[in-house]
Amino acid sequence: MRELEEFSRRIRNVLDLYELLRERGGKTICLTSGKVGVGKTTIAFHLALKLAEKDCKTALFDFDFFLPNIHHFLEEVPSSVTLTHYLSGLAAISDLNPIKIKVGAGLSIFVSKSVVDLGRKIEIEKIARLLKFFKREYECLIIDLPSGMSKYAIYPITLSDFILLVTCDDRPSRLDAGRIKKVLQNMGLKVDGIVVNKVKGKLKYFRKDEIFCIVPYDKKLSGFEVRSRFKKSKGIKSIELLAEKVLHHYLSVKYKL
Ligand SMILES: Nc1ncnc2c1ncn2[C@@H]1O[C@H](COP(=O)(O)OP(=O)(O)O)[C@@H](O)[C@H]1O
Ligand SMILES: [Mg+2]
Repeated sequence: MRELEEFSRRIRNVLDLYELLRERGGKTICLTSGKVGVGKTTIAFHLALKLAEKDCKTALFDFDFFLPNIHHFLEEVPSSVTLTHYLSGLAAISDLNPIKIKVGAGLSIFVSKSVVDLGRKIEIEKIARLLKFFKREYECLIIDLPSGMSKYAIYPITLSDFILLVTCDDRPSRLDAGRIKKVLQNMGLKVDGIVVNKVKGKLKYFRKDEIFCIVPYDKKLSGFEVRSRFKKSKGIKSIELLAEKVLHHYLSVKYKL
C-alpha cells in the first residue's frame, strides 16, 4: 500500500513537471550563488519591488526553506501558512495567502517558515505544481534560492525560465561563479545573467562585458531597512536598472523601454 502511494506521488510530480514546462504564463527568474551573503535575498526583494513598480504583476517566493529571510523586509507579521507548510503537506496551494504590497501592478510575497523551526520534512518536487499554478496569475515570478548547489537549489533552478547568478567582486566568488556555470552547463542549463553586488570602485575580478548588472555597495540596501524601500540611492537605482533590463531581455515585448 505504501509503495503504491509512493509510486502515485512520484507520477504526480512528474506530471506536474511536464505541465509546468508546457505552461505559457509568467516567467520565472531565480537568483542563485555559490556563497551565502552575496546579496541574493536583498536583490530579489528590491528587484521584485521595482518590477511591480514598472507595472509588471510580480510575485516573490522565498525558496530558502532552511534559512528564509525575505520576511525581514516586511513590516507585517508573515502569514501563518507559508510555502514550507505547503511543501511539508500541512497546507494546500489555495491556503497560501501572500503578503500584498500595493505598488504599480502589485507585488505578492510568499514567505517561508524555516524547516528547522517547523520540524517537518519537505518534498521539494511539489514546487513544480506551485509554479504552474502561479504562472497563470503573475507576469513575473522571482525566486530567492539558498546558496550553493544542493538539491534545494538545483531543483528550482531546473524549473526556472531564467537564471541570475549573484556574486561579489572577489577571487573566491569569481571562482565559485565559474564552478556554478560549469555545473549548470553540465546539466544543459545556462546562466542568463551575472549580477555583481557590493561593488566598491572599479571591478577587479569580472569584465564589464560578461556581466548583466553591477550593484554598488550601499548601506541603504543593507540591514533589511523597510524605511529605505522607496528611497533613492545608488544601490536602489542600480536595481531599477536591473529591473528594466529584466523587462527588456527576459519578459514580453509588451514593455516599451
Ligand atoms: N549592495 C549591498 N550593499 C551593502 N550591503 C549589502 C548589499 N547587498 C546585500 N547587502 C547586505 O549583505 C548581507 C547579506 O545579504 P543577503 O541578501 O542576505 O545575501 P544572501 O541572500 O546571498 O545570503 C545583508 O546584511 C545585506 O543587507
Ligand atoms: Mg538569502
